Amino acid sequence: MPAYAVIGGQWGDEGKGKVIDYLAGKVASVVRYAGGNNAGHTVVNDRGKFELHLIPSGICWEGVSGIIGNGVVVDPEGLLSELDGLGSRGVDTSLLYVSERAHVIMPYHIVLDELEEKAKGVNAVGTTGRGIGPTYVDKVSRIGIRIGDLLDIKGVLVPRLEQALSFKNALFTKVYEVEPVNLDDILAKCRVWADRLAPHIQPTEQIIQDLLAGDKSILLEGAQGTLLDVDHGSYPYVTSSSPSIGGACIGLGLNPQEIAGVVAVFKAYSTRVGSGPMPSELLGDFADELREKAHEYGTTTGRARRVGWFDAVAARYSRQVNGLTGMVLTRLDILDGFSAVKICVGYEVDGQRIDRFPSNTGLLERCQPVYEEHPGWDQPTASATDVSHLPANALSYVRRIEELVGCQIQIISTGPSREETILVHEIIPG
Ligand code: IMP
Repeated sequence: MPAYAVIGGQWGDEGKGKVIDYLAGKVASVVRYAGGNNAGHTVVNDRGKFELHLIPSGICWEGVSGIIGNGVVVDPEGLLSELDGLGSRGVDTSLLYVSERAHVIMPYHIVLDELEEKAKGVNAVGTTGRGIGPTYVDKVSRIGIRIGDLLDIKGVLVPRLEQALSFKNALFTKVYEVEPVNLDDILAKCRVWADRLAPHIQPTEQIIQDLLAGDKSILLEGAQGTLLDVDHGSYPYVTSSSPSIGGACIGLGLNPQEIAGVVAVFKAYSTRVGSGPMPSELLGDFADELREKAHEYGTTTGRARRVGWFDAVAARYSRQVNGLTGMVLTRLDILDGFSAVKICVGYEVDGQRIDRFPSNTGLLERCQPVYEEHPGWDQPTASATDVSHLPANALSYVRRIEELVGCQIQIISTGPSREETILVHEIIPG
């Protein structure tokens, strides 16, 4: 049976956690392929509210396994605290598997993330400070530590750590002029991680292939969003992985023919955390009102999110990069009660109209939004469970987004819980 992907269509925080939890009952496994605990996925179901950063959002469904693929970077401390948190609330985590090929976020990566951001000064990316970038750098530099290395401390881990620390400590002492890292301190932590994580460390590519050969589907869980993709996002204000669909093949050992559907989640407006261009950004009192109403503060860092109108130019780009087969629209209820709502339908730079998302960040920064205004709606969309419950103006807004992006909306989310969902078209058949 095939794989279906649910990924971020914007700058992350689109509400993927809720959508994945809603769909996960239909699959054998929910699988993360990129990023790390920089993500923050909120899930609200009959067991309560869960804030997940690394563990796939289907974990609350009994019998559904969770897989952290090779493309993910794993902070073992973060993973253990999530496992403990879920365990203390009675959630079974025995079916959580971590790829032996996934790279480990070491304590020195977290320190480096902070030092690099400080050194960048006004050009800082505004990272989550979780050590994500420095871990991917080491992976590509071939001096990273993989989760599987923890299971062979003497034979593999010690020599690899010695090599990595020779580079890191030169950097710490000579460039940043801070204290070096002690090998024994790190090894002591590795021993604890190895003991606790050993049952979860598996050849996940094989598990995935076996599942696909059986009669159940799997769900690929994107983290962050397409506009934060290291290649396709607003570089350099991006994360260090590939949240777009291409990252799923690399990050899981999956071939593209096995992916039957690619659905991206979009908020009914826009948000962004951290630095970088955001053409439809709103500032001032209305932005504050929207932010407070939607409680737009980061799940991972608590930072206030930048807010803006729905950007159809960026969304269309996202559709193209990912070959989207469908969309999910979340947080429509946040727009309830506004007298008018706007959609960014183009950009203007130096008096010229642009209808494409530029790769040149300088150009993107100068893009002024061209808006289309639509009448708002007074009746609530909150908690609606059927398209027929939507006020006429809300439905026209949804239809206009579909038209501008060129893609069908398959689910509309009208609140945080599983039930507050309008299923327009099935994403996973059966
Ligand atoms: P990093 O992933 O921590 O290196 O941060 C790089 C950029 O991606 C920063 O602008 C972060 O705010 C942003 N970012 C990373 N993860 C998320 C996420 O899950 N949601 C929204 N923004 C994120």
